[in-house]
Amino acid sequence: MTNKYENTKKYWDKAFTNISTINPTDPINNLSLEKSIKWISEDSSNLLDFGCGSGKILFRSLFYGVGQVLGIDISQEAINCANKSVNELELDNKAFFEVGGNELLKEINSNSYDGAVLFNIIDNLIPMDAVMVLEQIHRIVKDSGKILIKFNPYINKKLKEEFEFRELEEEFYEEKTGLYIWNLSNEKIKELLHEYFNIEQELIVEFPEYNQTNRMYYLRNKNTKII
Ligand SMILES: C[S@@+](CC[C@H](N)C(=O)[O-])C[C@H]1O[C@@H](n2cnc3c(N)ncnc32)[C@H](O)[C@@H]1O
Repeated sequence: MTNKYENTKKYWDKAFTNISTINPTDPINNLSLEKSIKWISEDSSNLLDFGCGSGKILFRSLFYGVGQVLGIDISQEAINCANKSVNELELDNKAFFEVGGNELLKEINSNSYDGAVLFNIIDNLIPMDAVMVLEQIHRIVKDSGKILIKFNPYINKKLKEEFEFRELEEEFYEEKTGLYIWNLSNEKIKELLHEYFNIEQELIVEFPEYNQTNRMYYLRNKNTKII
C-alpha cells in the first residue's frame, strides 16, 4: 500500500514541515467546518479521523467534549506535527496519532467508534482503496454513528486540460505533484455513500481565501453491516 502512495507521502511531508502547535480552544477559521465539528462531537465519546493531517479537526472535537480521538495519516511529518501538539498540551491520554494507511483501519475493532471524519481523503486515494476505506469506516463506526465526509470540487474538462492531469483510468488522474485525483461527480459520490451510509445533510463549504469550494456530507452509519 505504502509504495503506491510514495509521491503522496512526499507531497504531504513537505506541506506539514514546520506547522505550529494546534490548540483545541482555537476555533477553525471556517464557520461551516466549525459547525460540522460541533455536530459530530455532540454525544460522541470517541472519534476517528483517517487522513487527519495535523489533527486540527480532532483537537477541536476535544474542545467540544469528545473524550478520546485517533488520527491516522500516511505522512510522518503530519503525525509529528499532531504529536507535537499532544505533548505540548499534555493530551497524551486523549489524543492518539499513528502513521499509516488503509491497513491500519483493519486492526480497529468493529462498532468501536461513535464517529469518523474523512476530509479530502477519499477522492485522493486509488479508487479501490477509497472503497475499502468506506467499507472499513462502516464496519468501525457504531450503528447510526456519525460520519463527516468532505470532497474536493468536481473538475471540468477545461480545468483538466489546464492542470495537465495524467489519466490513469476513467476519471482517475495523477496530478503533476504526484497526488491522485478520483474526479467524482455528485451522482457518483451519492452512489458510493448510499452503499453504507444515510445522508443527513449536504452542503458546499466555501474557502474564499483559496478561491475554492468543497462538497461536504453529514452521514449516519447504516445499521445493517454489509461486511
Ligand atoms: C488534503 S489533506 C487533509 C488533511 C485533514 N483531513 C484536514 O482536513 O485538514 C489529506 C491528508 O490525507 C493524507 N493521506 C493521503 N493519502 C493517504 C493514505 N493513502 N493513507 C492515509 N493518509 C493519507 C495526507 O498525508 C494528508 O495529510
